[in-house]
Amino acid sequence: MTTATLAGREAQAQPLGAIDVSDPAIYEQDTWQPQFARLRREAPVHYCAESRYGPYWSVTRYQDIMTVEVDHATYSSERGGIQVEDQPSDMKRGSFIRMDPPRHTAQRKTVAPVAAPNNLASYEVTIRQRTRAVLDALPRNETFDWVDKVSIELTTMMLATLFDFPWEERRKLAFWSDIAVCNVNAPDAPVRSEAERFAELLRMADVFKGLWQERAKAPPKLDLISMMAHSQGTRDMSEMEFVGNLALLIVGGNDTTRNSMSGGLLALDENPDEFAKLDANRALVPSLVAETIRYQTPVIHMRRTAVRDTELAGQRIREGDKVVMWYVSGNRDESAIENPDAFVIDRAKPRQHLSYGAGIHRCVGDRLADLQLRILWEEILARDLDIAVTGPPRRLYSNFIRGIRELPVRIAA
Ligand code: HEM
Repeated sequence: MTTATLAGREAQAQPLGAIDVSDPAIYEQDTWQPQFARLRREAPVHYCAESRYGPYWSVTRYQDIMTVEVDHATYSSERGGIQVEDQPSDMKRGSFIRMDPPRHTAQRKTVAPVAAPNNLASYEVTIRQRTRAVLDALPRNETFDWVDKVSIELTTMMLATLFDFPWEERRKLAFWSDIAVCNVNAPDAPVRSEAERFAELLRMADVFKGLWQERAKAPPKLDLISMMAHSQGTRDMSEMEFVGNLALLIVGGNDTTRNSMSGGLLALDENPDEFAKLDANRALVPSLVAETIRYQTPVIHMRRTAVRDTELAGQRIREGDKVVMWYVSGNRDESAIENPDAFVIDRAKPRQHLSYGAGIHRCVGDRLADLQLRILWEEILARDLDIAVTGPPRRLYSNFIRGIRELPVRIAA
């Protein structure tokens, strides 16, 4: 019996109340689908009374997730944070993704221009040159790790540009990104405790403080540090807000796009008919990108906290309850998306997905991520690269980032 069939049977046999989709192991093993299918069918807004992160509500249908997303007056990001797991109270890092208006509004406004359409046009040339260089340098007829040589390499270069970070040290950004999101209990975690994580992030902040001081003295320019150093909404941030916002921008701009670069290749390898469609019609690249982002769902969930008693899909939510929006499930909701478990690169509405969230916190980097992925696929196709996945992916132990740690591939000469 396959792992997927076994997971399906187990999900059906479990008492409904015992289903706990916050277990990071189900994402590492990629066996989360049947549990969510059952919740969507039988208990779309579901209460898990006991988990390692305490009690929480799961919102699993597309429309109910939208309801929570747009009602930020009821469902707060500030009151309890954005992950099912709370940050330890003495190590809380405030960033604007964890804020409600009005603080959220001012800080978001400061950094949003970095990924606005007029600036994206100026990045396009640089991204294309780098993508070409990375693809041209890949080994032929030899197995290598796509995650390391392509996904991490390209997204780290992008981050270094966004921050105008010292080029030779750019891999530090990928390292800090891993530190910021890792589950400290994962077998291969780069840090083993919350205290260790916190200490590393403070070291990161020290490096950035140096850059900040230089940029604050110089005239304003278009990089995230300069923008924050010169803007009224961010220039007087506390140290914890500084650390939090740096981590947000590093993770936001890095892990998510990285995993879409790996996830897209894997999905096309597993669906050769879809690759044949793409090869025959390269105008499908933009919808391939949107479908990859839906299918991969790089951010597994976002959490909110109810600030008053309310009702959602017939369930009574109490003030203070944790409410978790499971994007992985909303993106597989058959009542919103046709044939949602299939990877189909020419859908009628490819952008209809929840991977970028919605409402006031909707991802600020969505167009930039789309651009990087579009260029990657245009350049792969322009070179007619014959890329085969040669082994199973190694996935991340996390209930927050749906990540691929390693993906062995081979390019035929
Ligand atoms: C495929 C790539 C990406 C995915 C799937 C993704 C996903 C998300 C999601 C789900 C949210 C929260 C939305 C919500 O709560 O409604 C978010 C917020 C955010 N993302 Fe992204 N993201 C991606 C790329 C990027 C990039 C490239 C950047 C940086 C340039 C970025 C920066 C941010 C920031 C700063 C926020 C916080 C927005 C706010 O709270 O107002 N993201 N992203």
